[in-house]
Order: sequence, then C-alpha cells, then structure tokens
Amino acid sequence: MTHSSTSTRWWRDAVIYQVYVRSFADGDADGVGDLKGVRDHLGYLADLGVDAIWLTPFYTSPMADFGYDVADYRDVDPLFGTLADAKALIDEAHGMGIRVIVDVVPNHTSSAHAWFQEALRGVNRDRYIFRDEPNDWESIFGGSAWTQVEDGQWYLHLFDSSQPDLNWDNPEVRAEFESILRFWLDLGVDGFRVDVAHGMIKPEGLPDIGHADQVRLIGNDVVPYFDNDAVHEIHRSWRKLLDSYPGERIGVAEAWAPTPARLARYVREDELHQAFNFHFLNARWDAGALREVITESLATADSVGAPSTWVLSNHDVKRHVTRFGSSERARAAALLMLALPGSAYVYNGEELGLPEVLDLPAEVCLDPQRLRDPDSGRDGCRVPMPWTSSDGYGWRRPWLPVPGDWGGLSVEAQDGDPGSMLSLYKQALRLRRTVSGELRWHDSPAGTLVFSRDDGFVCTVNLTGDPVDYPVDGRAVLSSAPVEEGRLAPDSTTWWRAKVA
Ligand code: GLC
Repeated sequence: MTHSSTSTRWWRDAVIYQVYVRSFADGDADGVGDLKGVRDHLGYLADLGVDAIWLTPFYTSPMADFGYDVADYRDVDPLFGTLADAKALIDEAHGMGIRVIVDVVPNHTSSAHAWFQEALRGVNRDRYIFRDEPNDWESIFGGSAWTQVEDGQWYLHLFDSSQPDLNWDNPEVRAEFESILRFWLDLGVDGFRVDVAHGMIKPEGLPDIGHADQVRLIGNDVVPYFDNDAVHEIHRSWRKLLDSYPGERIGVAEAWAPTPARLARYVREDELHQAFNFHFLNARWDAGALREVITESLATADSVGAPSTWVLSNHDVKRHVTRFGSSERARAAALLMLALPGSAYVYNGEELGLPEVLDLPAEVCLDPQRLRDPDSGRDGCRVPMPWTSSDGYGWRRPWLPVPGDWGGLSVEAQDGDPGSMLSLYKQALRLRRTVSGELRWHDSPAGTLVFSRDDGFVCTVNLTGDPVDYPVDGRAVLSSAPVEEGRLAPDSTTWWRAKVA
C-alpha cells in the first residue's frame, strides 16, 4: 500500500500557524514567551481556526541566534520550560484538534553543543567542517564564513560563528539526526520544519565563489553551498522515516531555491511534503508579478504532485503590513493568499495586522544579522504579541519593548470587532474550508486579478490604489474592504459566490 492511499492528506490545504515561541505568550512572567504561554493560548488558536502550529526552536541553546543555535536537540531550554511542558503542549493541542510541528536545525549546531566542544579539543572534528585554510565564502550574517581555532585550523559557519556547520558526509551526523527525529516523533509531534533544508550538503573541495557578493537571507542566490542535488538524498531518507510513523507526519523545507522549479524538487513524492514559497513572499504588491509567481508556483509544484505552500511573513523578514505599505493591502494580501489552492502559513501577529517595528532602540536589538548591516536586523518582526489593550499587553517586561500605540492592535481590542484584522482571518479560515478545486484565471482589467475555484467561488483582487469597474454577478461572502456595487475597492480582495464565464 502506498502512503497516499492510506493518508488523510491533511497538510495539503492546512493553515499552519507559526508560533515564534519567544514572542507569542509568556506563561511564567519572565518577559520571554514559553511553552506554557502557548498552552495557555491554545483556545485562541483553536478559535482562530488553524489546523496546526509550527513552534520555532525551544531547545537548549545559548540563544546567539535565538534558538537556531542548538546545544541539545533532545531537551527544552529552561527559558522556554521543560520536556514535560513540551509533551503537555503536544497532548493538549492534539486534544483540541491542532497538530504540532517543531523546528529541526540540521545544518549547524551551537558551538556550545557537546560535539563542537569535543571538536575544539581535537576530538572527532570530522563531524564539522574543519580546514587548514579558509575559502572565500561569506557568512549570511556578514564577514567570513570561517573562524580559526586555537591550533590554527578553521571551521565553516554559514551563519554566526557560534553556529558551526555539520559535516553531512559523516554517517554519524546522519544517524544522530535520524535519532533526533525519532525522539520528537515518539513524543508525538506531527512533523518538522527543516531549517536551511537546502544547505546541508557542501560541494566537493569547497570551491571558491570568486566574488564577494553577500548572500541574502531567504534570497534566490546561486552559490556553491546551497541547493546541491545531493541534499535530496537526506530528504528522501527522512521521508521514509516520517512515513514509518502512523498519522501522516510531515516535513516542511525552509529552502531558499533560485526558482520555483528548483524548489519543487524538495517536495517530490518521496521527499518532504511542503516547502515555503518564498518566491511568493518576495513578490511585490503588483498584479503582474503576483499572477506570474502564483501560476509558476502552482505549475511547478503540480508537476511533482505537491501542493503549493504560501507564506507572507515569518520571523526572518519584514512584516508584510510594512512591506506592502498599508494594512489595507495586508488585509487584501491575506485574503488572496487564503483563497489559493494549497497550504498557508500564518506568522503570529499577522492576524492582528502587526507592522514591523522600525524604531527599536539599538541597545535592545540582538539579532546576529545586524552584524552585517544595522538596518537589516530581524528584531522588528519579533516584537511580542499584544494580548491585552493595557497593562503591558499581557507581558511583564517583554524582552523587546512593545510600541506604546499597539493597544488597538491587541487581541482584546480586536476580538469581537467584526471589522478587525483578527475577525477577517477568523472568517477567512472558516470559509476557506468550503473552497476546493484548482485555480482558473479570468480576464480582468489592468492592475487586478480574478480567479475562480470550484462551486462558484470567485476571488477578485484590486492591486491598484483606485476603484476599478468590474461587475461580478454574485454575492460577496467576505471582503477586505467595503464592497461597492459594480466596482472593486482600491487595494482590496473580495471572495464571492458567483457565476463565472
Ligand atoms: C533559518 C532561520 C533563521 C536562522 C537561520 C540559521 O533561516 O529561519 O532564523 O537565523 O536559519 O539557523
């Protein structure tokens, strides 16, 4: 029996909510979000209507890259709770019908990991990538990708110097990660978000790039250390492991691939289930650009039998309210994304319409990416969620200051307000369950997009700042802006039950 014949395929159209644990909710009032905070707010997530949550790394870590520097893959950092808290969270989420995906960080460990500590003492160095001479590769966070150790050798770190890259040519590394995956699968997780899934395999001989262009985080750059064909062998073996567990556990690739076609290779039938569509995330608020990326993404994913996986924001990029320039556009973008066939990721706070915080005081910003460029830090998208309108927004001493004017954006303020962003997301998540079928584009005026799916579902998007004449023969069921007869409101998306030509 093949896995597809036994599967529920729950993930193919799931809405998966990214919990940036540090900033979501604080269960022990120490100013840093934690697993108890997530447990306390499962009701909120169930009410929002998400199918699953993805928890960013909560493992033992010195937190140089806020948990993406893992020192112990099988334990919970005391800042976030205990292993018992993780188990309780998984069980309680399951009890409420919410699946739980955890992050796995296989490209590198923390320099505090026992293996790297041994390596520094000259023991089992071949678990990492040590060389007598560095090459010309640069760290994604800036500066050389090599750091010299006391005895003169250099080790590779594509990210921070405290994140040494593992050597995936070493079978011990492969075995260790299979064991780590089993550990969490046995605890009950429904899958993994695979960090830097395109980076684990480095090319033979580590060739120089020959130029010093800085590689962008979540970019399309073609560089020798990313998207090597041999990385797929790892994903194939992980897929076998996932499939050996009951309940359809999934893998989602964080892969920065140069094109949608290269990205589709990560979701071939015997590889991972999903891959974040960063081509969609990186698209401008422009009808032509979006239509092109949507069409190409659907076609390439479909060519390997996979769904597309849409995403507008995450903990590494400027929030899309700010990227697109207004909350009207963010409302419209959300309804566009949620009307597309496939799975969608929602980053905590986007359902509140949180903007990027651009004026954080320099002394509170600790993101290592700021090493490269003080303006490029990712702190501004990681500001804690405002739960209440007053009293510190439900946080005592939040680890990053929450802007003084976020009261109106809080869950408390938006809950029950039919015009709020939160209500829009709730309605959209409920309604999208009634929508199915492939996407069909329809001709529409310049600057607009119109597509339909099955059963008379039509989505109209006006990406211009002006109203556009476009009569729809049907009933608007949800709209990001007040619906006008015969016209599409500026920067708006509307869902219709309609007749289409
Ligand atoms: C991924 C994470 C990012 C982290 C990097 C290194 O891109 O999303 O936050 O800094 O990997 O682990």
